[in-house]
Amino acid sequence: MPDITFIHPDGSEQGFEAPVGVSVMQAATGADVDGIVAECGGSAICGTCHVYVDAPWADLLPPPSPTELETLECVAAERKPTSRLSCQIQLTAAMQGLVVHVPESQY
Ligand code: FES
Repeated sequence: MPDITFIHPDGSEQGFEAPVGVSVMQAATGADVDGIVAECGGSAICGTCHVYVDAPWADLLPPPSPTELETLECVAAERKPTSRLSCQIQLTAAMQGLVVHVPESQY
């Protein structure tokens, strides 16, 4: 079970172990991480699970699909090069120590 850490806009951190095979969004909602809304339940169409992946990890994750890229154009907070939909990132054992930042807003 990889450790994953969410960093909130105020700088506070929320870290926990998450099971391999779930999405980062599912890990977040299962642990009541504030700021990960996930209105569409993981279908990559709402954009309310937007996160910024921490720099070392951003280049190591599988690239976003065309659908994810399209939805990222509509996220509420600033879109950055490290923006991802957390519902589209499936946790693997290799993601030990993954760090993602929660944006200021999802609406
Ligand atoms: S949960 Fe809707 S886009 Fe990720």
